[in-house]
Amino acid sequence: MKPFLKWAGGKYRIVDRIRAQLPPGDRLVEPFVGSGAVFLNIDFPAYLLSDSNADLINLYRVLQEEGTDFVEYCREYFTPAANREEEYYRLRELFNRTTGRHRKAALFLYLNRHCYNGLCRYNSSGEFNTPFGRYKKPYFPKKEMLSFARKARRAVFVCKDFRKLMAGLTPGDVVYGDPPYVPLSATAGFTEYSRGGFGLEEQEKLAGLALRLAGEGIPVLLSNHDTAFTRQLYRDARLTSFEVQRFISARGENRNKASEILALFRGAGGQSR
Ligand SMILES: C[S@@+](CC[C@H](N)C(=O)[O-])C[C@H]1O[C@@H](n2cnc3c(N)ncnc32)[C@H](O)[C@@H]1O
Repeated sequence: MKPFLKWAGGKYRIVDRIRAQLPPGDRLVEPFVGSGAVFLNIDFPAYLLSDSNADLINLYRVLQEEGTDFVEYCREYFTPAANREEEYYRLRELFNRTTGRHRKAALFLYLNRHCYNGLCRYNSSGEFNTPFGRYKKPYFPKKEMLSFARKARRAVFVCKDFRKLMAGLTPGDVVYGDPPYVPLSATAGFTEYSRGGFGLEEQEKLAGLALRLAGEGIPVLLSNHDTAFTRQLYRDARLTSFEVQRFISARGENRNKASEILALFRGAGGQSR
């Protein structure tokens, strides 16, 4: 099942690798749900899905509550008239001003499909500021939204920082944590990755929480780039590494390979499946 949003760092293409490493449990907890690629493609009896992006969680909740009616409402924003530069900036402004959760959710979907590269970027005042994407005919993901809404019947969505979410879990839970990536090289910019509010300190805190939860009988699988830094960070976990093809630019002419690491933290009592 394909996610209906374009999302940086989405894991749709490596979901089989994740499935192979994820232990079974009563509930899958995702502190960094993003596009929901893992939730959509791995089966658990229940899901607790969180992200610090309030616009994302608002959209998921509205879709969960209103299903088909909301999908039809969103369609109004996928017309040739709405795919003009001037109209894009008018709707982006409307999104930044509106307080109605229904309209805000539909506009967030509109922006995701009409903005440059599907990039979700805010300025320092918290306003969405990605420029117009100039796509010929943005795809309206009706089928994908309906599948998401069906599966969301077994899910609870919350907007929390990962530290808060991971403080309230119980045995039976299994965590898949996919934080913003660490940079591929130290010079690729410490500033670049701490800008999004997720720096070295957060990466270390997450690894510490994973180790603690594992000790309490709650397995945690973390994803990241495979670097010397993450190997050190996840030294207490069982590591699996593999290469993935990345498409860096919009048109895909800049392709390169980066290795991905999966780190499974599991308490001594629960090593066997
Ligand atoms: C790599 S993406 C997750 C992608 C997701 N697994 C998917 O397949 O689409 C990382 C996510 O972490 C969220 N995030 C960033 N900082 C966070 C924080 N402190 N607490 C919770 N979520 C955070 C971002 O909004 C983003 O959606």
